[in-house]
Amino acid sequence: MKQYPTVTTKLVILLGNPLGHSISPPMHNRVFERLGLDYCYMPVEVTEKNLQTVFSGLSRMNVAGFNVTIPHKINIIEYLDALDPLAATIGAVNTITVRNGKTKGYNTDGEGFIRSFEEKTQSTVHGKRFFLLGCGGAARAIAMTLAFHGAEKISIHNRTAAKAEALTDEINKKIRPCAAAVGQSPDSPKKTLADCDVLVNTTSLGMHPHEDVFPLPESLISPHLIVADIVYNPLMTRLLKSAQGKGCAIVPGLGMLIYQGATAFKLFTGVDPLVDQMSEVAHSLMASKQ
Ligand code: ATR
Repeated sequence: MKQYPTVTTKLVILLGNPLGHSISPPMHNRVFERLGLDYCYMPVEVTEKNLQTVFSGLSRMNVAGFNVTIPHKINIIEYLDALDPLAATIGAVNTITVRNGKTKGYNTDGEGFIRSFEEKTQSTVHGKRFFLLGCGGAARAIAMTLAFHGAEKISIHNRTAAKAEALTDEINKKIRPCAAAVGQSPDSPKKTLADCDVLVNTTSLGMHPHEDVFPLPESLISPHLIVADIVYNPLMTRLLKSAQGKGCAIVPGLGMLIYQGATAFKLFTGVDPLVDQMSEVAHSLMASKQ
């Protein structure tokens, strides 16, 4: 059996800060090994100040690509040679390929959400009406990708109303006129949800160590909704447990992490990964954290 890494091993680098919590390295390395691919996935913590120098140096090594996470998903764009159109529209990059010394940025976060949603619900996002809670980086990638993939309506509800209005305007202008901000009056979310098929929590509310927090009044969840959460620690958030208890179909957050990784894996190697194995590694790592 080959010892890794060798001089021919292609590297995939995760850039971010901090990275101690990331399960991406074992998730990718296990599948490289299973498929007999001479690749190695390595986390590199880097500060904003050193980002350009580190990225420029690493790009000249035997590197197939990068994953990029908080806080560099936006800043990295100015150092890239090319940008995929969806990533350009989203305005953030989480995956970079290096081919013949040229770097190209992609965003697989929204794609990861959609693949997870479609696999879990055995349906498509096309034609569905979504209610997104929150308006941060993850919401932006999900909302833009949903609009790209033909969601019928995307209603966005955020604590800071101006941000929801800015994001919906951007979607309507750049992609399709399918987005609207949810009004701030107390009964607006209820009225809007009655006409939606899917509720997605894109905020960090309910994340460890604040598992008891619920991102919206529990009474607003009715059984006709598919309820998705992008929080994956805990695997079953309070929102998902409550929705499941009311008979809703649910989409847990770990799926998005696994599928954004699977989409990135294909970009790095050209090979479809073993999603079941990525999922098995991700679940066992998360189970050991619960
Ligand atoms: P990320 O980039 O990881 O998605 P973020 O940019 O910090 O994270 O966005 C977090 C989202 O959760 C935002 O929409 C934020 O609302 P604001 O735009 O009003 O800040 C929302 N959020 C965070 N904490 C919240 C809270 N306690 N109540 C309501 N919304 C909250």
